[in-house]
Amino acid sequence: MSIIGIESLVYGVEEKDFADSVRFFEDFGLPLRKVSEGLATFRLAEGSHVEVRKLDDPWFLPSAQRGTGVRECIWGVESQESLEELLIDLRRDHDVRLDEDGTARFTTAFGQAVGLKVWRKLPVHSAPTPFNSPGNFNRVNQVRKWIRRAIPTTIQHVVWAFPDVNQVLDFYRDRLGFRLAEIQIGAGVYVRASGAQDHHNIFIADASNQALGFDGSISFHHANFGVEDIDELMVGKNYMERRGWPRSSWGMGRHRISSGAFLYLKCPAGGEAEYGADIDVLDDRWVPHVWEARFGSNIFIHDMPVFLQDEVQWDVGYCEPDARYPDPSASVGECDGLLVKPAVTMA
Ligand SMILES: [Fe+2]
Repeated sequence: MSIIGIESLVYGVEEKDFADSVRFFEDFGLPLRKVSEGLATFRLAEGSHVEVRKLDDPWFLPSAQRGTGVRECIWGVESQESLEELLIDLRRDHDVRLDEDGTARFTTAFGQAVGLKVWRKLPVHSAPTPFNSPGNFNRVNQVRKWIRRAIPTTIQHVVWAFPDVNQVLDFYRDRLGFRLAEIQIGAGVYVRASGAQDHHNIFIADASNQALGFDGSISFHHANFGVEDIDELMVGKNYMERRGWPRSSWGMGRHRISSGAFLYLKCPAGGEAEYGADIDVLDDRWVPHVWEARFGSNIFIHDMPVFLQDEVQWDVGYCEPDARYPDPSASVGECDGLLVKPAVTMA
């Protein structure tokens, strides 16, 4: 019963923001497939989609989510047989409807609209320019690749905040087969679909974390779109600024959790859109980490937010894959399911 990734992200936007949302995603580099009154569809190289709809579109299922942004993620399932296996279980306590195209859609007990659909994920290619470093020559008499635009080829992850992180973790892990990748204390948990190798496909953020801008309700935060390398990421940044979109508040950086290079841009369709490059790839041999939140957040960042301006204490451990999200005030050493806390004292 394998979910293999994100088949579609369906945004709900204010009517006044619909045209800007379409223009934003075009400038961001998503290939526009079709646009009509109240519905725009983009299709990425891997065969995934971004849809933009108006918030009051009757297409949306009832949900407890507040605000604009991704109001429904449709998860791609490897086969009809796998989808039916998932639905046998889900129908026990969910009202599942089937759309004409075979997409199964329902609202969870915690109030999130979710979709499942058989998906043929297409292979994508990339060929990042090799790096040279002192004494290590991977590129001799050869220049770096020059490009004019960023064109994301994949949707890597999506982030919402939830009031009860463990309720959401239980659902995705126990009912949909997701794997725990990381726990970031006070911030949330990272989970990966069992048939995907992205470091995470969802960051289940803790809605009680006001420093992340949450107000305790279910809300969308950002979606991550995969580009080839940091050159493409920065070419995309420059292009978006030339097109008049606001500058990123953090600028480019690299997360310690997932190792991913990032660039977040405020998006008129809600939340932020993230260019992502060089993210860790995982399989079921991965051992999850438990992180002190600030230590896990970044290796470096161009424009440091206030919470990173002091030197950060190194603090990380390993945990069981069935570990749960601890109280936000817990330390790494106090987490249930902790396998080992390395004696790291560097600061
Ligand atoms: Fe992200």
